[in-house]
Amino acid sequence: MTDETTIVLDEPITHSLLDDADRPTVGRSISRIEGPLKVAGAARYTAEHSFPDMVYGVFVQAPFGAGRVTRLDTAAAEAMAGVLAIIDDPALARQGGDFGGDAAPKQNLREVHFFHQPVALAVADTFERARAAAAAVGVSYEEMAGIYDFEAAIDTAEPPTNDLGGLFAIHTEQGELDAALKTAAATIDAVYTTPSHAHAALEPHSSVAVWDEDHLTVYGSYQSPVTTRGQLASALGVPADKVRVISNYVGGGFGSKLGVMPEAVAAGLAARQLRRPVKVVMSRQQVFDMVGRRPETQQRVRLGADAEGRLVAVEHATVTSQLADEIFFEPAGIATHFLYAGANRMVDHKVARMNKVLAISMRAPGEAVGQLALESAMDELAVTLGIDPVELRLRNEPEAHPEEGIPYSSRGLHACLTQGAERFGWSKRNRTPAGLRDGEWLIGHGMAVATRGNLFGPSKAAVAIGGDGRAVVRTEMTDIGTGTYTILAQITADLLGLPLDHVEVRLGDTDDPISAGSGGSWGAGTSGSAVYAACDGLRQKLAEAAGCAVEACRFVDGHMEAEGRRWALRELAGNGIEVVGAVDAGKTVKGFAQASYGAQFCEVRVNATTGETRIARWTSVFEAGRVLNLKTATSQCIGGIVFGIGGALTEEMVHDPRTGKIVNRDLGEYHVCANADIPDLDVVLLEARDHAANPLMAKGIGELGISGAGAAVANAIYNATGVRVRDFPITLDKIFPYLAN
Ligand code: MOS
Repeated sequence: MTDETTIVLDEPITHSLLDDADRPTVGRSISRIEGPLKVAGAARYTAEHSFPDMVYGVFVQAPFGAGRVTRLDTAAAEAMAGVLAIIDDPALARQGGDFGGDAAPKQNLREVHFFHQPVALAVADTFERARAAAAAVGVSYEEMAGIYDFEAAIDTAEPPTNDLGGLFAIHTEQGELDAALKTAAATIDAVYTTPSHAHAALEPHSSVAVWDEDHLTVYGSYQSPVTTRGQLASALGVPADKVRVISNYVGGGFGSKLGVMPEAVAAGLAARQLRRPVKVVMSRQQVFDMVGRRPETQQRVRLGADAEGRLVAVEHATVTSQLADEIFFEPAGIATHFLYAGANRMVDHKVARMNKVLAISMRAPGEAVGQLALESAMDELAVTLGIDPVELRLRNEPEAHPEEGIPYSSRGLHACLTQGAERFGWSKRNRTPAGLRDGEWLIGHGMAVATRGNLFGPSKAAVAIGGDGRAVVRTEMTDIGTGTYTILAQITADLLGLPLDHVEVRLGDTDDPISAGSGGSWGAGTSGSAVYAACDGLRQKLAEAAGCAVEACRFVDGHMEAEGRRWALRELAGNGIEVVGAVDAGKTVKGFAQASYGAQFCEVRVNATTGETRIARWTSVFEAGRVLNLKTATSQCIGGIVFGIGGALTEEMVHDPRTGKIVNRDLGEYHVCANADIPDLDVVLLEARDHAANPLMAKGIGELGISGAGAAVANAIYNATGVRVRDFPITLDKIFPYLAN
């Protein structure tokens, strides 16, 4: 019998069982428990799954950006050796918006909405033969005028049609914004632009589909197998309970693997038609072409402050792009709702409909690009006022959420700012733009605030203790490189008093208890809380088995101790006990403004002749509630900062404005930062607790590092050169024309 223990987040948690652990692993630096499997090549990623009789599918893609396929000429391809089918099912191009629930209904085979949209799948007995067959398929089409140029499309932008269940506020306003701006002592009115970004996860999207009678199993690289299952079932027209999705190891996602992507649908269709296992692995270029992007933005920020730097007016008006009829939008103003005080405010989002690949969530949707703009504008305001940028932030700490009036659950920003400034040596920085030079290098210092909302999703996990005294954790939750395997083992080990190596964690299977998945930085907090609930229930079961009150029990070294007695867990477990833990939203989710915070400081060197920027030094201090694993949490922050530096300096997905084709669709031409671009990043995580977030008292961390990181770079470049670039990325061509030399 499996029991269930549910924790509903209705009021702040006063005591976490994690704080009772006898030999705590939570909070320490623990290496990934699956690390040895990964370095030994024994952790099997999706594309490494193989089955007898398995065949391979390769996409045929539309060679135009908008219009209609009139004919597919498949005869030559079908006659090629080893070719089994050219599949042109209308469902083939379907993929899931990450909040859509359904695979996007608009995208069918005959209508083409973006360049390189999939239009058919060539299937053959080897990958190479399938690839040759795909290349041999002729595509005839009627092209229509597509919308490819964002600047030209901005005037057509309209409010998004959907607020995604209240997650993204479309438009908010308070007070008298224009009047406040008129009477403000200092104002900023600036427009910032950011380009489309690619997630560029290391592992390309891939799926292996196996039909067994009427039941489909898909091994896929996904962040949320259950979301994939639902969207896949919908695209294939089968009930969700006939589909199982397995994502044991995922080589990064950053949002690109939240919703089902075309390769999973294609593999499922082909396997159903051919009655053989089918593997579809995207090429790197196909990942760029068809999985989605962070959309470009244009953001107008108007700020007004009194002479002491207290904000009286805050406006953030944003335009992004998306395919027609898709509901997701980039919520670029999302942090502006809650980050700073100020009575008169407006945040607005509009969307221009364009023929570019689906816009989807990418690491810190909203905050990542929104803080490039807002935190650049705050720096501009500090310059205008002659107030230290750190001090300006400190003067605008709100008492409560400035729009909603609700309290912050926890807010460590003040400590991040002051401790970060101290650690970085901010007081000794160069204060005069273009005032510090070392040979041909201009040296500058900049800072920005990081914040990322703390989100919640219902989650379940099963924890069992076997007759061998070892624990097994099972949940549909994934580890996308973030450390989930390890932190769920740590929580279990601490709460049951087991050594870490006595806990096995099984992830990424829709047959196991369903989680909120890996997304939105909510994974650790939500799945960790489900494991916490399960362990809480198990402790009660074990206490009952011994006839003790659980409050009197200690769990240590594989034993339970109470009233001077000691039992091995394996004795109490008998043939095994399993409890399913669940955590559910309650009043604290909406009753408190929940977010993680940080302060990012950097030193840049800008070449006075070429305008090339190098990052020279970096310090960030973050507050995200309890740190579950110092090593994996720090790693998340470092990865996020690197991502943010890329957004500031190099990352830009370029669509040809005439055709809509992505012209830099590989990692040679789409520039993510590499090791040589990044110095040692000094990252500090403050010890904190958030009592409203969850029983772990931990907040999200995966998307915190990227937030504000790019603005710190932009602000440092201004400080180094006196050149304010508002059009990201800040490539050297945007700097050197303005350098005095
Ligand atoms: Mo994240 S962009 O929700 O994976």
